[in-house]
Amino acid sequence: MSDLVEKKIIIAIDGYSSCGKSTVAREIARKLNYLFIDSGAMYRAVTLSFIRSGLVLDGEVDRPALKEQLRRIHISFQTNQETRHNDIFLNGENVEQEIRQLAVAQKVSQVAAIAEVRQFLVAQQQEMGQSKGIVMDGRDIGTVVFPGAELKIFMTAEAPIRAQRRFEEMKAKKEPVNFEEILQNITDRDRVDETRTESPLRKAADAVVLDNSHMTREEQFIWILDKVKKIVTDED
Ligand code: DC
Repeated sequence: MSDLVEKKIIIAIDGYSSCGKSTVAREIARKLNYLFIDSGAMYRAVTLSFIRSGLVLDGEVDRPALKEQLRRIHISFQTNQETRHNDIFLNGENVEQEIRQLAVAQKVSQVAAIAEVRQFLVAQQQEMGQSKGIVMDGRDIGTVVFPGAELKIFMTAEAPIRAQRRFEEMKAKKEPVNFEEILQNITDRDRVDETRTESPLRKAADAVVLDNSHMTREEQFIWILDKVKKIVTDED
């Protein structure tokens, strides 16, 4: 275990939405005492800022104004002492809850497809990984943000299984749910993520695939930790 702590690496986790990337990434970061960054939260925070400034109108984003707005956006993370989560802050305001709301979820794919937004966030993400010891999850981490990451994982699970997990989660939170709608939303998001022009979701050539359709969280955690151990101890 001391090897794991001493030799810091970059762990890039990409994959489809609702695969449980952030959950396992957070657990791995905690175990290794690494920084965990949910890059999707950064796209959501920018989207929230745009919505609040009225830059995202029905199906349209005000392109000239958004460049100006990006200059006014400051994103940071801070550990929440209660939950131990790395909460996201937009210009000093904790927006961890607000970015998960439907209004943001409905617009974020559109905002994440804008080249200027991606350049703005990728630069900050690369800065965060400068001293390594980081687990970052998203869609383009192994391909664009950290192409030299020591460990790249591409996470996937069958769409109906992801939909079922999401269905259970929402039901537990007493949110109104319809399985068919959730499944449709998941397959739509997969398509948008894979087909956009700017940094589409792709498996990096040197990424290892983790299909967690039939794996527990614990099994995924052990699977990833095993890969980390092999890298930091230079095993084959
Ligand atoms: O992982 P998530 O659902 O919180 O991501 C929110 C949105 O941001 C989703 O539309 C995909 C996009 N995203 C991206 O384009 N690149 C990333 N590195 C992370 C997320």
